[in-house]
Amino acid sequence: MVTARHVAIIMDGNGRWATARGLPRSAGHRAGVEALRRTVRAAGDIGVEVLTVYAFSSENWSRPKSEVSDLLGLFRHFVERDLRKLHEAGVRVRMIGNRSTLAGDILTLILKAEQLTADNGKLQLNIAFNYGSRDEVARVAQQLAAEVAAGHLAVDDISEDAISSRLDTAGQPPLDLLIRTGGDRRLSNFLMWQASYAELVFTDTHWPDFGFDDLVAAVSEFSGRERRYGGLDAVKSATG
Ligand code: FPP
Repeated sequence: MVTARHVAIIMDGNGRWATARGLPRSAGHRAGVEALRRTVRAAGDIGVEVLTVYAFSSENWSRPKSEVSDLLGLFRHFVERDLRKLHEAGVRVRMIGNRSTLAGDILTLILKAEQLTADNGKLQLNIAFNYGSRDEVARVAQQLAAEVAAGHLAVDDISEDAISSRLDTAGQPPLDLLIRTGGDRRLSNFLMWQASYAELVFTDTHWPDFGFDDLVAAVSEFSGRERRYGGLDAVKSATG
């Protein structure tokens, strides 16, 4: 099996998982954190290099206040309480998303997690938080415009590489596989630039039920696919 170097997951279905069990949605999100822990371990075990998970989108702020506060609490808890274990397991933690509007205490936690784990090399975990693909590309556009205005960049130098190297995922292996759980088949503003040539795998499994076997099944589906990157011949693995 060819292991995908960079796997991303839209962790959907927490609410439906909880409702089907007569539980509040918050219980679904808590079970979702357990599934995340399992999946981080599984990704490390099968040799994935980068795992990017969609924890909170820039659109999730429109959910009821109590649910937003549950999700923020779980995020804080995860970054705070799991940090030591993640560090011991050799996981490098990074946040991708818009930092400019985040509360100071959350930002401090994120920076601490990033600094502590900066030299770890077993697995990189990108937690997409306050993330939206359009927002990410708009931030890159602003940065490019500022560089041009300052005379540090020529308009002609605005290339695909110039954009990629300013995205939140700059310098990381290209996205190979994007998994969405919970039965819907859309990208929901997640990694739209990065997913240009990613393989997409959709599963009806609700996120809290996702585990090692589901990750292996998705990766083996990926490894059976022929990737042509717009050409005619299959390409074994991407380089950029
Ligand atoms: C989608 O399920 C899931 C989310 C909006 C949040 C994902 C969050 C977690 C898995 C737990 C938190 C993770 C961290 C790192 C703290 P949904 O609520 O849209 O489910 P539904 O479609 O069934 O309603």
